[in-house]
Amino acid sequence: MGEGVIRPFETADLVAAGRLLAERQRRHRVRHPLLPAEYEDPVLALVEVTAAWETEGASGAVLVEDGEVTGYLLGAPKSSPAWGDNVWVERAGQAARDPESIRELYGVAATKWVADGKTAQYVVVPDEAELVDAWFRLGFGAQHAHAVRPVPVEPLPPRPGLTVRRARRDDIQVLAELDLVLPQYQGASPVFSAGEVPTLEEALADWEQAIDDRDYATFVAERNGVVIGSSIGCSIEKSSAHGGVAQPDNAGFLAFAAVFPQARGLGAGRALGEAVLNWAAEVGYTSVVTDWRVTNLLSSRAWPRLGFVQTFHRLHRLIGY
Ligand SMILES: CC(C)(COP(=O)(O)OP(=O)(O)OC[C@H]1O[C@@H](n2cnc3c(N)ncnc32)[C@H](O)[C@@H]1OP(=O)(O)O)[C@@H](O)C(=O)NCCC(=O)NCCS
Repeated sequence: MGEGVIRPFETADLVAAGRLLAERQRRHRVRHPLLPAEYEDPVLALVEVTAAWETEGASGAVLVEDGEVTGYLLGAPKSSPAWGDNVWVERAGQAARDPESIRELYGVAATKWVADGKTAQYVVVPDEAELVDAWFRLGFGAQHAHAVRPVPVEPLPPRPGLTVRRARRDDIQVLAELDLVLPQYQGASPVFSAGEVPTLEEALADWEQAIDDRDYATFVAERNGVVIGSSIGCSIEKSSAHGGVAQPDNAGFLAFAAVFPQARGLGAGRALGEAVLNWAAEVGYTSVVTDWRVTNLLSSRAWPRLGFVQTFHRLHRLIGY
């Protein structure tokens, strides 16, 4: 960073921020061409930054060098109690020509965030190594991964000893039991997620409605005629976590998968993930997106093995201790 001035973000900075976000998207797409090209256009990138700025409670900072805005950072709180007294820098909440300058930008923006009590901080960072490193040297660590892969060119073959099929109404009981598996696993060490675990009754009631919902493709895996796991595919539009600059064109979403503990590590997770990949190819999607907690020792290993490549890192810092 040269002789820049850092000051609070203002509405008049939006156009310049849109330009910087478009530049960032151009760099990001060199590594991940599946990410959407349209946000390389500063006019569309401006829509994304404007949405971040107009989020209730948004604030941030810009870096001005020789009269030009060369970096910005924008954060806003989320209302869900699961995130604590929080501020989120979302997918369009930052771009800087010099990645190191994000540290100065944070220095100014976080003064207000912490003064306002926003001490649980979350930042969605594109996988630019220098930018991730700069955040690392602001006390942030990895919490969550966003990833994408193309659909398979040829259908992936079935796994010996396993049957994967579409779920039916008479699977509702086991689907509900499997719904609890993910939050139960993630509530424990080493994930310690604050996500709520539904009751079995709640999960059963949800499935009574959801089983006929054609927007979701639900699969179950059977071994020796017994269901041991499930997975769900849908359109990426169903997931608020993967919009705008993070939403590949025409993408499916691997929304959920779970295998009962006693049946893990035997290939059922792969077979269920591949069922969603095959389904996505069949219905005409060109890629599939998924995400996982990086502290989840199971999904953080399984999904990269299925060919998913990380595009964004969600980093986290808790201030005060
Ligand atoms: C994630 C989950 C669905 C995977 O199912 P699984 O049946 O255990 O996975 P698989 O046996 O098919 O293994 C999938 C891949 O991960 C790899 N893998 C699994 N455990 C591993 C480990 N400890 N170290 C390294 N690789 C591992 C496997 O080798 C396999 O890759 P390969 O087929 O190329 O060899 C399952 O573990 C689960 O239900 N976890 C709890 C809920 C959850 O996290 N759901 C995912 C939500 S994002």
